[in-house]
Amino acid sequence: RAPRTLAGLKFLVSAGPTFEDIDPVRFIGNRSSGRMGFAVAEAAAREGAQVTLVAGPVALATPAGVERIDVRSAREMRDAVLAQAPRHDVFVSAAAVGDFRPSAVAPQKLKKSGDGGLELALVQNPDILAEVAALPQRPFVVGFAAETENVEAYARAKLERKRLDMIAANRVGADCGFERDDNALLLLWPDGREELAQADKRELARALVARIAERRGAKDAA
Ligand code: C5P
Repeated sequence: RAPRTLAGLKFLVSAGPTFEDIDPVRFIGNRSSGRMGFAVAEAAAREGAQVTLVAGPVALATPAGVERIDVRSAREMRDAVLAQAPRHDVFVSAAAVGDFRPSAVAPQKLKKSGDGGLELALVQNPDILAEVAALPQRPFVVGFAAETENVEAYARAKLERKRLDMIAANRVGADCGFERDDNALLLLWPDGREELAQADKRELARALVARIAERRGAKDAA
């Protein structure tokens, strides 16, 4: 087989959803399966990288050779990622981090009261990706953008706003994106783009990891 192109590089990957607790038995989550992020971790490890995977609650086996840190909420994910980021060369943020969490976690199970509804107050979670991108000694930072429309324009705006080195954008909806084995990605970086056609997530992950290695090299050389 070809030489392992990522030997000596340290990859940090986040994957999966976050769960934001409402009370001891309920939470707010999302439909991320974690498959894309786990595939990125696996692809990087197979190319010889040292890989740390920060995983939200998912039902997936840890890829061979990958060090895994399990977290539940966005704030736990933030703490784990920020603690790890400074000693990594690349951060791939594939997690579907919940944007909001309940402003307080009820200590006991919330009870129904008559026919009344329930209003939940939510506060915003920290943007982990933007925080890593703002670190003084930052790794090469790769974000994901799941969009239902205007994929390229929204993703490029996100690349610029969060000051990313690369973004992998995909269309999500009923027939693509979450909870599937395949996906298609549009890669954007500050002065370029490349479309990765619909393929198995593991195949896409291999292509993505190869592009990251190229772009990171080009950036270092610049
Ligand atoms: O802004 P948006 O949520 O669409 O951005 C998606 C990207 O930002 C993904 O790479 C995701 O992992 C990351 N993100 C994050 N922390 C958040 C929200 C999103 O790291 N609170």
